[in-house]
Amino acid sequence: MVVAVKKLKPEGFQGHKEWLTEVTYLGQLHHPNLVKLIGYCLDGENRLLVYEFMPKGSLENHLFRRGAQPLSWEIRIKVAIGAAKGLRFLHDAESPVIYRDFKASNILLDLEFNSKLSDFGLAKAGPTGDRTHVSTQVMGTQGYAAPEYVATGRLSSKSDVYSFGVVLLELLSGRRAVDKSKIGIEQNLVEWAKPYLGDKRKLFRIMDTKLEGQYPKKGAYTCASLALQCLSPEAKVRPRMSEVLAALEQLSAPKNASKTSQAEQKTATNALSRTQVRSHPSPSGRTPGGASPLLPRRSPLHSSS
Ligand SMILES: Nc1ncnc2c1ncn2[C@@H]1O[C@H](COP(=O)(O)OP(=O)(O)OP(=O)(O)O)[C@@H](O)[C@H]1O
Ligand SMILES: [Mg+2]
Repeated sequence: MVVAVKKLKPEGFQGHKEWLTEVTYLGQLHHPNLVKLIGYCLDGENRLLVYEFMPKGSLENHLFRRGAQPLSWEIRIKVAIGAAKGLRFLHDAESPVIYRDFKASNILLDLEFNSKLSDFGLAKAGPTGDRTHVSTQVMGTQGYAAPEYVATGRLSSKSDVYSFGVVLLELLSGRRAVDKSKIGIEQNLVEWAKPYLGDKRKLFRIMDTKLEGQYPKKGAYTCASLALQCLSPEAKVRPRMSEVLAALEQLSAPKNASKTSQAEQKTATNALSRTQVRSHPSPSGRTPGGASPLLPRRSPLHSSS
């Protein structure tokens, strides 16, 4: 069996806390769209995590690494669907879990481009009872974290939905959530792309040129509208992951779908029209800045067989 081993830097309490959170959650949660934790090791300062090896690495490598074979439109939708299934599973579990670190580098791919979420170090139990959020220290990754979470520390499953919207934008545009090599507004993908997402005629301007125009225009527009809903500054307006998933599955459904799946598609469309985007001011200025306590990257991972 081929495995991937992550060796954590001996960096004190936060590192240990995350290691423990990862072991606790991944030890209990099992789903085809979550990476399998095969084992772990704690010996003094040394902490290891052993996972199933994901042969195609992370989505980040495929989208952004120089020289990577471009992903087709169909593969991009497949990857989005797999990741949405993983998040939906966490949010709709009997004891809901907020993932909190949804980003392209944490979406791992198998040989058939099935996605699995990895890195549960920041996962957090969702609110219980009538509560809509849990209050917590702001952690996560710059460019992906929801604005209300960054501003107030209020974390809800809708924070994950926002991050999902950012990854959808990365899939559409082939650009990173934050790119310091760009100038001005183009450094922040959400700020830059938002004005184009709801405009059928302008959408092509933000589409990944590596797709060379090989994508269905209507499908791209539906996907962009979905991203816009996920990125709504107001958390409660964002769709639930089950609704996001239904909309994405509709995009990948074959044209001559059977009657049953047409009925399912109708349900999905209805679900989405209930969560139409309202117009909101952009969260400019509230997005995480350099001084925010958002996490930098964690320790690198080694693979072995
Ligand atoms: N199970 C795995 N199988 C194969 N490759 C993996 C596996 N887990 C991680 N990787 C690869 O190792 C890289 C580094 O992972 P790691 O989680 O340490 O950092 P990251 O996700 O890039 O950033 P962060 O520390 O912020 O999560 C991933 O981006 C991915 O390419
Ligand atoms: Mg990671």
